[in-house]
Amino acid sequence: MDLFVINGGKKLSGETTISGSKNAALPVLFATLLTKERCEIKNVPELRDVQSTYELLNYLGKNCFYGYGTFVTGEHSALNPVAPYELVRKMRASILAAGPLTARFGHARFSLPGGCTIGVRPIDIHLDGFRQLGIEISHEKGDVVMTARKLHPAHIKLRFPSVGATENLMMTASLIEGETILENCAREPEIEDIAAVLVRMGASVEGAGTSIIRICGATELKGFTHTVMPDRIETGTFILLCAAAGGKIKLSGADPRPLSALIRAVRKAGVKVYCGRDSITVDAEVSRPKPVNIVTKPHPGFPTDLQAPWMAFMSQCAGECEVHEKIFENRFMHVPELMRMEANITVSDRKAIIHGVPGLVGAPVMASDLRAGAALVVAAAAARGTSVIRRIYHIDRGYEKLEMKLRDLGVDVRRRKDDGTVK
Ligand code: UD1
Repeated sequence: MDLFVINGGKKLSGETTISGSKNAALPVLFATLLTKERCEIKNVPELRDVQSTYELLNYLGKNCFYGYGTFVTGEHSALNPVAPYELVRKMRASILAAGPLTARFGHARFSLPGGCTIGVRPIDIHLDGFRQLGIEISHEKGDVVMTARKLHPAHIKLRFPSVGATENLMMTASLIEGETILENCAREPEIEDIAAVLVRMGASVEGAGTSIIRICGATELKGFTHTVMPDRIETGTFILLCAAAGGKIKLSGADPRPLSALIRAVRKAGVKVYCGRDSITVDAEVSRPKPVNIVTKPHPGFPTDLQAPWMAFMSQCAGECEVHEKIFENRFMHVPELMRMEANITVSDRKAIIHGVPGLVGAPVMASDLRAGAALVVAAAAARGTSVIRRIYHIDRGYEKLEMKLRDLGVDVRRRKDDGTVK
């Protein structure tokens, strides 16, 4: 296992380029299961989750090529719609194979998905929607078995605007003739990316990015070429990195539009953020940020995926502020680690109160999940002295070439093997 050694406390400067979005790329890769034709996806980040998707698609029988940011799929023989535990346990997004496989082959069997342990993370909204589209669901030896005798369109109201369930049901409905209406959909920008793909494949999709999406499916879907949107969570993480450590940085290839909730909050804290058409400049000369309360919400609210890095930034605020996590019930695992770095935070259920400290101090810490890991990187860059971050395999799931990009921005970071010699 690898670890990061970060010597923090230095002001940042420099420029780096934002990668393609992990959360947009994964559903698009699973959409390739809807067609036997060739699909080409560009700007795909090199990440462990993409590697896991490659392995799963290959296992299911897809022919995949993946390199230089491009992912190409095709089919030479019949697919086998069974996803085993060993492959799906690594990543929650593997549930996105279930809808496309059942829509195309009439059945699928998969083990319950894994991923970050940030809450219960059930899949009832996916399964409920599948049932309404005519899919029978049973459970066998820990697997979910899906059988579709006769798929039909439906009017489905989601209990909660789940991102994954919206994507899964959109993909499934794209192979069902007639109009399916999805209500209370997620409005995250990644939904618009998958909608654009489904339209290119031959489905009609209207309303992506709003809470009501109408899909008219086709009996067969075509191959496509698509370029994945920039990663808004990676962008937000770098904005918070600079806000916490100070200095001035430029992020190129970044789209500021889906980040308005974060940018508003960061500006309120006293940091200057300048937005171009495809770049963002952050100028953080203030010594301590003003305290700003946030509540995580579905898009366009403050993203839950930036809550942990936000807390790393706010831990040095001049006063007291509150963070309310409304999406996941167990997403404060970074707090004890930030407290090792001398942050002062109290947690009660889904709320955290941050009592700002004048500065963080480097310490040995451990990443418990992907975004908690990102928060520790932000904190370590801001902290005086050396931090050692262990279990960075979580971070590698979602941040492409992170240490290279951190160095572009002036962070003193090294990746080392965790062989017991690093203290
Ligand atoms: C996606 C993102 C993840 C982000 C999350 C919320 C991907 C690959 N991952 O995850 O980075 O943190 O959106 O913005 O895009 N829920 C249920 N039942 C379900 C589905 C979800 O109760 O069937 C609950 C979850 O437990 C959670 C909330 O709904 O509390 C949001 O989950 P969801 O929007 O589905 O997140 P993901 O699609 O898994």
